[in-house]
Amino acid sequence: MHRHFLVAAFLATVSLLMSSEANFATYKLSLHWPAAACNDPASFECKPNVLNTFTIHGLWPQFANGNPVRPYGPETNRCTDVIPVNSDQILNLMTPLQDFSRKLWPNYKDYQNQTVNENCWKYEWKLYGMYSDSADNPYRYFSTALSLAIKYIDPYKGTRIVPRLVPYMAKDISDAIKENLGVYPQIACNEVRGIVQLKEVRLCFRRDKENPPSVLQDCPRRYANKCSDETNEITFIPHLIG
Ligand SMILES: *[C@@H]1O[C@H](CO)[C@@H](O)[C@H](O)[C@H]1NC(C)=O
Repeated sequence: MHRHFLVAAFLATVSLLMSSEANFATYKLSLHWPAAACNDPASFECKPNVLNTFTIHGLWPQFANGNPVRPYGPETNRCTDVIPVNSDQILNLMTPLQDFSRKLWPNYKDYQNQTVNENCWKYEWKLYGMYSDSADNPYRYFSTALSLAIKYIDPYKGTRIVPRLVPYMAKDISDAIKENLGVYPQIACNEVRGIVQLKEVRLCFRRDKENPPSVLQDCPRRYANKCSDETNEITFIPHLIG
C-alpha cells in the first residue's frame, strides 16, 4: 500500500517534470537598438552605416519564471513526435519572407550583407526556433516574429521616450511602454565606458499551443544584463554616437 503510493507519487512527479519541460509559457520578442549594440567594443565591429531603427534580435520561448527554454535543449522536443527542421533547410522555406526579413530582422553589424543575415537567421533558428511550437515549420516561426515586429518594431512610438544623451531613469523607460502597450517589457542594457545603455526592449506574449503568439503580457523579469532595477540610469543613445 505504502509502496504503491510512493510509486504513484514518483510517476506523477516524473510526468510533471517531463511535461513541464515542453510546457514553456511565453514568447519573448527581443528588439535591439543597433547604435547601442555597435558602440560596444566587446561586440564585433559594425559597418559605419548603422541602422537607426529597432530591429528583431529574436523570438524566444521561455518559461513563466523568465528562464529560456533553450538550455534544456533536446528535452523540450523529446516527448513529442515533432522533428525540428534542420537549420540548413530553413533559407528555402523562408524565401517568401526575405524582403521583410532583410528589413525587420537584419544583423546589426552589416545589415546589407545577405550572408551575414542568413547566418543570423540560422543561428536564431537553432537556438530558439527549433524549441518553439513551430519547430517543424520555419516559415511559421519567422512569419510570426515578423508579424509581431510589424506591429511593435518601434515600442516607443507615441511616447515621450526618444534617443538622447541625457539618461533616463529605468522606470521611465519601462513605464512608457506600460502606458503605451499595457504591459511591462524587459529592458536589457549593456555598459560602454561606464555608461549603461538601452540595448534591447523585449516584449512578452502568452503562449498558445494552437495559434501563433499575439497576446501581450508582462515580462516576468523587467531588467536584464547591465541594468537591474528601476532606479538605474539608462541612456537611450542617439544613432550618431559611436
Ligand atoms: C559578407 O559577409 C561575408 C561573411 O562574413 C564575407 O565573407 C563577405 O565578404 C561579405 N560581403 C561583402 C560584400 O562585404
